[in-house]
Formats: sequence, structure tokens, C-alpha cells
Amino acid sequence: MSLSQNRCALLGDMHWARRIGFRAMDKLRIVGGQRLEGAVTISGAKNAALPQIAAALLSPYPLELTNLPGVTDVANMLGVVGLHGAVVTRSAHAATIDTGKAVSKETSYDTVRKMRATVLVLGPLLARFGHARVSLPGGCAIGARPVDMHVAALAALGAEIAIEGGLIVAAAPNGLRGARIVLSSPSVGATETAMMAATTAKGETEILNAAREPEVADLAACLNAMGARIEGAGTHRILIEGGSSWRAATHDIIPDRIEAGTYAVAAAITGGQLELTHARLEHMASVVQLLEATGVKIWPGDRGLIVSRGGPLKAADVTTEPYPGFPTDLQAQFMALMCCAEGASLLRETIFENRFMHVPELMRLGANIKLQGTMALVRGGEKLRGAQVMATDLRASVSLVLAALVSEGETTINRVYHLDRGYEQLDRKLRLCGAEIERISA
Ligand code: UD1
Repeated sequence: MSLSQNRCALLGDMHWARRIGFRAMDKLRIVGGQRLEGAVTISGAKNAALPQIAAALLSPYPLELTNLPGVTDVANMLGVVGLHGAVVTRSAHAATIDTGKAVSKETSYDTVRKMRATVLVLGPLLARFGHARVSLPGGCAIGARPVDMHVAALAALGAEIAIEGGLIVAAAPNGLRGARIVLSSPSVGATETAMMAATTAKGETEILNAAREPEVADLAACLNAMGARIEGAGTHRILIEGGSSWRAATHDIIPDRIEAGTYAVAAAITGGQLELTHARLEHMASVVQLLEATGVKIWPGDRGLIVSRGGPLKAADVTTEPYPGFPTDLQAQFMALMCCAEGASLLRETIFENRFMHVPELMRLGANIKLQGTMALVRGGEKLRGAQVMATDLRASVSLVLAALVSEGETTINRVYHLDRGYEQLDRKLRLCGAEIERISA
């Protein structure tokens, strides 16, 4: 990225952060060396909440979501359904979304560019109103991330789709028809788009090679509470009986397995012990298996999971994969951990092509990492020392926080709003467990 491109990206980021009420220039100051101990409450899953907020547009009856995480991506998504006429009533960890008077308006480039998950309104708007206009997202910090599979799924359900002026223009004037949809790879978002759109189609839809993420199963549970008839979500084959009879519903969002994995790494990297309240072992098998291979101990407690490390950290290799494999959303955090392990580890990223943006920043802290294409070779055991660092996406930022917790001296992390997008009160949760961490307001 050139200097001027970098400046443009920064100005764009600042504008967005200001628009949603967060302080773009806030920083985190961390003094490393504290062993973390105590309990951390794991919030509701951001990646489950976002499609469920979009799903509220399907039905004219109110949807109440509970265990909603207090993160800016959620606030932003509630704003997006608000732009379509939804009335949102919020409390600290819940929202009621009433779309009785909603309409299908254009979802602009500015909106989708800032948060790709906004594209999830496409399926519900098309399914309920028979037409939708949603901007193509374009590239983002972690890669090209096309939406061709979302579009192909809607076309298979009978929608007419055109790309006009950067917009996906979708129409189904006579309604959608149930169909067999075979996804070319198990995309989470495309599975969710197909599942939501199929709820109003005539007849049955079968989605093959569906994503199996717990967030997909949780969306199906939410849709079923709203009146849909979906079976098989969480497996490769999902069946949807169309023509849903909608009703008012309440749904409790599952805990965030990525947030839980992040705090598990926080316990491991600091040689501490944390109780992850609400964390669910059944959603974290690959993460638990990998952490155990590095010498971390994990066991179920009365309120969630307990993670502890007393002995040395051993190096381990990992490849990111669709669920139930090791999640790409924990790759950066695991890399921070491997920087402190004895020996070398090989990390292979297979989901996103540009997801090593944290590497040069970890190296500023003293990490020894070599990148080759989709592989990163981490030689652990180098002493990390505090520095000023900057990150470009949510998970990259949090990997720097984790590394800073064990770096000698002080680390300053810029662009804290990346963290606010997906981690509820990260600095407070860490401070309560003994971290020396402070948010510096601009
Ligand atoms: C979701 C998660 C994100 C996570 C990712 C993979 C949400 C809101 N976000 O993103 O945190 O990192 O799953 O676990 O749930 N692809 C295409 N064409 C498409 C759709 C996807 O080529 O139409 C590609 C993507 O570029 C990527 C891969 O498929 O390389 C997986 O993407 P996908 O599973 O769709 O991720 P998201 O739903 O965007």
C-alpha cells in the first residue's frame, strides 16, 4: 500500500468510526508481564448476531434477540435494518427488531464497504419484497472476498440478477422457487443467504456442501423460532420447507467461540488460568485439541471452560479450515501464542488469501516470522519487547493485544475501533483478570 493509499484508508476508517459513535483515535496501552487469572464472561457471538439481525427483515412480526454482544458491528447492522424501516428497541444485551413497516431500499456501497456482512440483507429483502438492490462489497483488508456464491444461490431459487453500477439488482416478481443449491465451497455467508431466502420460496430447498459453523445452526434455530421449517443446519445438507408462516419470536444467541478462543490464548500466553464463563466445549473441539497439543490444559467447569498453563509452551502446526476445522478467525491469535513457544511452528491459511497483516506488526515486537505465500513459519522463543503497533482488522488487532500481554515494557496499539467491532469491552475484561491495560481516549 502506498503512503497516499494508506492515508485514504485511515481517513475512511476514521470517518466510519466517528459515524457509529466510536473514537477512531483511541489507543490501548499495555504493560506486559502480568499472569492472567480469574473469570471472563464470554459474550454472544457477533457472527451469529449479524445474520439474525438481517433475518428480522423476513418477517413482519417482531424478533427479540437476547445475549446480543455490545460490539460496534452489531450496532452498525441494527442501523442498516433501521435504514430499511425497522424499528429497533435496544437494551444492554438485547434488541427487539420490528420490521412491520420495513421497505426494500438500496443498500449503498458506503454501508457494505464498511462492513461486508451487510450483504446478508440481500436474501431477506429479496425474499420478502420480491426485489433488492445491495452494493457489491469490493475488496477488504483480508482479501477479495467475492459474493458470487450468494448471487448464484439466489439465481438457483429463481431470482433474476443483474449487476448495475456496482449494485446487485435482484428481482423475483413472482416469488422464489425451492431448488437444489450446490455450493462450490462451504461459504458461511452464502449458506446463510440461501437459507434465509429459501424460507419464503414455493416448495422445498436443499443446500448441499453447506457451511457447518455453529453460527449457521444458530441462524436456523432463530429462523425456526420465527416460523421457518429448516432441518439439517450444522451439517453439509440443509433442507428448507418454504412458505413460512411467520410469528413474533425470541431467540438467545450462542456464545462467541472466537472470543472464547481468544481468551483461552490469553490464559495460555501469560501462563495463567481463566474461567471462560458460557464458553461451549462442543463448539471448540479443534481449538481445544490444538491448544492441548501446545501444553495448555482445558477442562469443563460449572459455568463454562477453564483454561490453564503451568508448564512450557510447545510449538504446534496448524492449517485453517472450515468448521469443524481450526477457524481462520483464530489464526492471528494462535500465531501470537506460537511466538512464545519453544521451537518452530508452521501456520497455513486456506480461507482468506491476505490474512497475515498482523505479521509485520508482531515482528515489530520482536517476533521471528517468515512468510511464504499462504504459510507462516514462526520461530518461537524470541523475547518480545513493547513497541507502537497498528493493525488493519479485528483479529490482527487482538493478536497484537495478546503479544503485548507478554512483551517486556509498554506497547501502544492504535486504531482500537477495530477491536470494538468484535470484542465487547476487551480492555475491561482483561483488566479484571490482572492485565495492565488502559484505553487512552483521543
Ligand atoms: C464468515 C465470518 C468471518 C469468518 C469467515 C470464515 C461472519 C459475519 N463472518 O465470513 O468472520 O472469517 O466466515 O469462517 O460470519 N467466498 C467466495 N464467494 C462467495 C462467498 C465466499 O469466493 O460468494 C470465499 C471467500 O472469499 C473466502 C471463503 O469463500 O475465501 C470463505 O468465506 P465465507 O465462509 O463466505 O466467509 P464470510 O461468510 O464472509
